[in-house]
Amino acid sequence: MCGIFGYCSFLQEKDRKTVCDILVNGLARQEYRGYDSAGIGIDGDKPGEMYFFKEVGKVAGLRKKIAESDVDTSKTFISQVSIAHTRWATHGPPSVVNCHPLKSDPDAHFIVVHNGIVTNAVALRLVLQKRGYKFESETDTEAAAILTKYIYDSQTGKKPTFTELVKQVLHELEGSFAFVFKSSHYPNEVVTARRGSPLLIGVKTEKKLKVDFVDVEFAGPESDAKSNSALAPPTSPSGLLAPPSNPGMLRSQSRAFMSEDGLPQPIEFFIASDAAAIIEHTKRVLYLEDDDIAHISGGELHIHRLRRNEEGGAPQAQHRTIETLEIELAEIMKGKFDHFMQKEIYEQPESVVNTMRGRVNFDQARITLGGLRAYLNIIRRGRRIVFCACGTSYHSAIATRAIFEELTEIPVSVELASDFLDRKTPIFRDDVCVFVSQSGETADTILALRYCLERGALCVGVVNTVGSTISRETHCGVHINAGPEIGVASTKAYTSQYIALLMVALQLSEDRISLTERRNQIIQGLHALPGQIKRVLDGDKGFQELATGVLANQRSLLLMGRGYQYATCLEGALKIKEISYMHSEGILAGELKHGPLALIDENMPVIIVMTQDSLYPKVQSAYAQITARKAAPIIICNEEDEGIPKGCQTIRVPSTVDCLQGLLNIIPLQLLSYHLAVKNGFDVDFPRNLAKSVTTE
Ligand code: UD1
Ligand code: BG6
Repeated sequence: MCGIFGYCSFLQEKDRKTVCDILVNGLARQEYRGYDSAGIGIDGDKPGEMYFFKEVGKVAGLRKKIAESDVDTSKTFISQVSIAHTRWATHGPPSVVNCHPLKSDPDAHFIVVHNGIVTNAVALRLVLQKRGYKFESETDTEAAAILTKYIYDSQTGKKPTFTELVKQVLHELEGSFAFVFKSSHYPNEVVTARRGSPLLIGVKTEKKLKVDFVDVEFAGPESDAKSNSALAPPTSPSGLLAPPSNPGMLRSQSRAFMSEDGLPQPIEFFIASDAAAIIEHTKRVLYLEDDDIAHISGGELHIHRLRRNEEGGAPQAQHRTIETLEIELAEIMKGKFDHFMQKEIYEQPESVVNTMRGRVNFDQARITLGGLRAYLNIIRRGRRIVFCACGTSYHSAIATRAIFEELTEIPVSVELASDFLDRKTPIFRDDVCVFVSQSGETADTILALRYCLERGALCVGVVNTVGSTISRETHCGVHINAGPEIGVASTKAYTSQYIALLMVALQLSEDRISLTERRNQIIQGLHALPGQIKRVLDGDKGFQELATGVLANQRSLLLMGRGYQYATCLEGALKIKEISYMHSEGILAGELKHGPLALIDENMPVIIVMTQDSLYPKVQSAYAQITARKAAPIIICNEEDEGIPKGCQTIRVPSTVDCLQGLLNIIPLQLLSYHLAVKNGFDVDFPRNLAKSVTTE
């Protein structure tokens, strides 16, 4: 949801075409996050001048617009700063005027790109309008751009540094966001900051960096300017209209960027919301923390804090590590596949192995999750386990709830993060709260996590993205190691989350001798799983035929099952509605008589999941009820099941242990939804109105 990209080059001759290509490619790599317009802001021909290119729709359209423009693309820059953005409309529809970067004024003294939401934008807009400032867009972002100019213009005497200025702006903003600021007053400088929305900075140098961290420069007490509101009446002596006091920075050097001979060295910085946009340039990255303000200028990167190190608060890290990314560009490229979603579905035989790698010892039937080792006893002593998640991640928790209860004998509840917060659910110190999230950046899940942290519960993350907010803010957790997932419709993350949760349950129960046989059976099942997933994928042609045949022109599709397969139905229905825009509902077969049966007749398409587990007879009864009402369901059943009535349309899958069967059953549904979307010509990887990473409530 929204993507930020910034590019700063220092003492490296770059022509404008190269700069534009780097920006547009940076946006293209983040397309999967979801957006509806895209824009860039670059240096113009004259000092202080800026050029903008903005387009509604795809990044490809923006690229075309730039190529067709008559700006001099051969103009070169020794040092430059440029910023870019993909916008997912929240305040005002997708349009060129609402597209980022947003300007503070027609002369673009300050320009801003922004992810997230400024919740007090309406109040800021009113105050600034009263003071004569004109707005041209409907966005909350423009309020931040204009506020920056207002604060700058209001300062008499010595003007603040760019960092001090942005710090004053951020003190006025409420909400959760990531920002990048560029200004004609501060040529070749950029300031970027985050609160609640991810940001990372890639660093590329020819020489090796001297050290692999950047010191954090903590502000002194007097720069904690919340009380010195910029919006205080202009006459207020303490307002920012008064000359700025010395902010009392404790300056220390940005040691990582010093060259050995003391001379400035050529360097490039890449700012992005996602590592996928940086990886093709450099693997050396630094993740910003909430309330970090990074200032890039003269080839140096300095990290400041918005607030001073609070007395009595938890000690804050004194530096930010420059980490080495482990993902490869190939992992985020489509390769031989037509779409990322298709590639990710086909990756599952490997991604499930990566989730288990180094954690499952098949010979000794033992599970070792390094990230949980120190916390196992606390979890076992917990009064209950509360799962919190959204979308597909929520379904993975539903899918594993029963095995958790069976193996741990601890009561388990599964919560949609938004509803959990709406209800202000009681949470206690002896609760164990598990936050499941592919991205680790979903706003509702993060808010639920912070709510539980405040109440003293043990917070465990099950996350795909290393370095994400949830991964960092939880006490402990498990990375699912599924590799980057780009398609908005989550597929391989689901199967990996499912396995990661199952491994947690298995490890928690390792002290229960009575469950040894059950555990061994499941671990053997896990061993066979990758090969079985491959077998299901081999049947893809048949799923394509269903999508282009019996299901081709349907408006609605019901999926029903019970027990472990309820989650399969919910997740299958979500996939179908997300990308093929067909109405689809996952129904618990046990609830059929209490309502859904009214929908059934010969015209209602149904898929029933009837793989063989202890609930098989009950699902057979559901099958009888719907066929008695003339439905002709497609049956997902086991390969060797001979009890299926002749003449029925079937999807055959290999048999496995009951609690693993959902991992195989979901794959035909993922592929079915994919083929339905392709058949209808829909944009599989970027479905309308949806975003991969939902960073606003
Ligand atoms: C870790 C290393 C892995 C290495 C292995 C070798 C990382 C990210 N993983 O894997 O590269 O091969 O040791 O022993 O460096 N965590 C949270 N919240 C979450 C997810 C994880 O706090 O949502 C914490 C864990 O508690 C742990 C750390 O992050 O302290 C790494 O977790 P994970 O990658 O799952 O650990 P390992 O599998 O041991
Ligand atoms: C969005 C995505 O809605 O967020 C879904 O489109 C995803 O695919 C959901 O399941 C939750 O995201 P995450 O990253 O917290 O698992």
